[in-house]
Amino acid sequence: MAKVQVAQINVPEGWIDFGIGQPHVDILPLEQLAEAATHRFEQGDRNILQYGMQQGSANFRNSLARFLSAQYEAAVDPDHLFITAGISQALDQICALHTRPGDTVFVEEPSYFLALRIFADHGLKVISTPIDENGLILGALEEKLVKHKPVFIYTIPVFHNPAGVTLSTNRREKLVRLAENHGFLIIADEVYQMLAYTAAPPPPMTYFDNSARVLSLGSFSKILAPGLRLGWMQAKPSLLEPFIASGYLESGGGLNPFVSGIVNSMIELGLQEDYLNFLRKTYHKRMLTLSAALRQQIPALKFAEPHGGYFIWSFLPEGTDSQTLLAEANKHQVSFQPGIKFSSARGLCNYLRFCFAFYGEADLLEGVERLSRVIQ
Ligand SMILES: Cc1ncc(COP(=O)(O)O)c(C=O)c1O
Repeated sequence: MAKVQVAQINVPEGWIDFGIGQPHVDILPLEQLAEAATHRFEQGDRNILQYGMQQGSANFRNSLARFLSAQYEAAVDPDHLFITAGISQALDQICALHTRPGDTVFVEEPSYFLALRIFADHGLKVISTPIDENGLILGALEEKLVKHKPVFIYTIPVFHNPAGVTLSTNRREKLVRLAENHGFLIIADEVYQMLAYTAAPPPPMTYFDNSARVLSLGSFSKILAPGLRLGWMQAKPSLLEPFIASGYLESGGGLNPFVSGIVNSMIELGLQEDYLNFLRKTYHKRMLTLSAALRQQIPALKFAEPHGGYFIWSFLPEGTDSQTLLAEANKHQVSFQPGIKFSSARGLCNYLRFCFAFYGEADLLEGVERLSRVIQ
């Protein structure tokens, strides 16, 4: 097993790190992207080398809209799409355009810890609000809205990172109503929307929005390759306008026109759909393997099997400190993410997050075996 060293991760040789929330390079679609690039280059369209249209090329947005409509089983209007350089870039630009240092934003407890870093870069005051097995608990959110006036709430409403849960349809409708009544935006990070293994989730949050309150963020990072740095926002056109008219795009043009051209061919040739089907099958199997091994070998760990996404979110009895366990686990060359990392309230100390997307089944089993020597 070679040493793994890329952005965010640096795993010593021989270790198994369940903390890595990325695809493994071994399954990234190099051959398919080579075929798509050749297809695009053979068309002789030099426009993909030019500064791009601010919203993203109409050609690419049309292809993307067709692809997403089929995946969501709901119509996607290409005029409601704005091309981004991935969700991280979109979050940064949302903060730049909608907030000023000192403003308040709401996040879920737990939440994706690297989004918390972006909010810190912008000097935002972060207040967390709890979730359960159906996503955001709206009663708790409403109580916080009496005291605070957030610019936006950042939510991961589908196959949550780290919690794996999905916001129910009923709560989606109510959340939008709360946003209307209290005047905040909903930033929905839907990076795992299409990685559904059992039942299809509700459509993205923007479908519940009649009053221009919701920005739905999508990405090719988890359905194609993170190195592409390509994603999209789906929202009412009035919400997209500030992004399209920003100084950043006025100077640099639309985001990633060259990569968009190649991904356009991935979609046109049906390669994106095939690869996504392959990922769903592969990750579903890995999830079942990890879940069965954890249940069998470490019965003290409690968790609900996720219906999609990348993660199993588990907990040990109250009072257990998963950071202490992590130090012990590391002595056995196995690692995971401790719950406290996802908490903006420095809590969730008895939680552990496992990613099942990175390793193949043999490594998943070996990792659980090692961990079972630490947790009994
Ligand atoms: C919830 C969540 N949002 C965003 C990202 C990053 O997305 P992107 O690569 O599109 O910036 C990740 C990646 O792990 C994630 O888990």
